[in-house]
Amino acid sequence: MKNDIDKVLFDELTLANKVKEIGALIEQDFKGKELVVVGILKGANIFMSDLVRKINCPLIMDFMVVSSYGAATKSSGVVKILKDLDSDIKGKTVIIVEDIIDTGLTLSYLKEYLINREAAEVKLCTLLNKPSGRTKPIHIDYVGFDVPDEFIVGYGIDYAEKYRNLPVIATLKREVYEK
Ligand code: IMP
Ligand code: MG
Repeated sequence: MKNDIDKVLFDELTLANKVKEIGALIEQDFKGKELVVVGILKGANIFMSDLVRKINCPLIMDFMVVSSYGAATKSSGVVKILKDLDSDIKGKTVIIVEDIIDTGLTLSYLKEYLINREAAEVKLCTLLNKPSGRTKPIHIDYVGFDVPDEFIVGYGIDYAEKYRNLPVIATLKREVYEK
C-alpha cells in the first residue's frame, strides 16, 4: 500500500484537529435543533464516525449510498441512489457529510433531493474540496481542506475500493491509476 502513495497531504493529528474544529462549529450552529447527519457511503464513513463524536448535542445518524466512480477517476455526472434514508427528515435540519467534492454534481443533486423531502434546511459538510474540479457551482457550509486536482485516497477515500484504511490523506502515484 505504502509504495503506491505519492505524498501525504494530511497526517492523523492534522485530521483529528480539523474534525474537532468542524464538530465544534456544527454544535454551535445547531444547538437545540433536531439534527439528522447523513453520511454518503462508503467514502464518508470514517470522517462521519469521527465527526459525530465531536458534536456534543442530540442527533440522528443516517446514510445514503449513491453511485460513484467505480474504478474510474472522473465523475460520470449521473447520480443514482442505491440506498435511501431510513429516517423521515421532514422539518429537520439535515447535514450531508461527504468525503470529497470534485465536480459538485453528486452533492448538488442530493441537496435538491433532500430539500424536496421537506427538510427544514440542508447543509453541506465535506472533509475535502477540489475547487478546480467544479462544474456545478455549489455552496459548501463546512469544508475541511482544499486539495489540488490529484487523485486522493485514505481516511475512508478509495481508489477501486482500496486505501480506505490509510489513517492519513495522501495522493496516489499517477502510474497506479493511469494504468
Ligand atoms: P463529484 O463532486 O460529484 O464530482 O463527486 C464526488 C465524489 O467523487 C466523492 O464522493 C468521491 O467518491 C469521488 N472522488 C472525487 N475525487 C476523488 C479523489 O481524488 N479520490 C477518490 N474519490 C474521489
Ligand atoms: Mg463518495
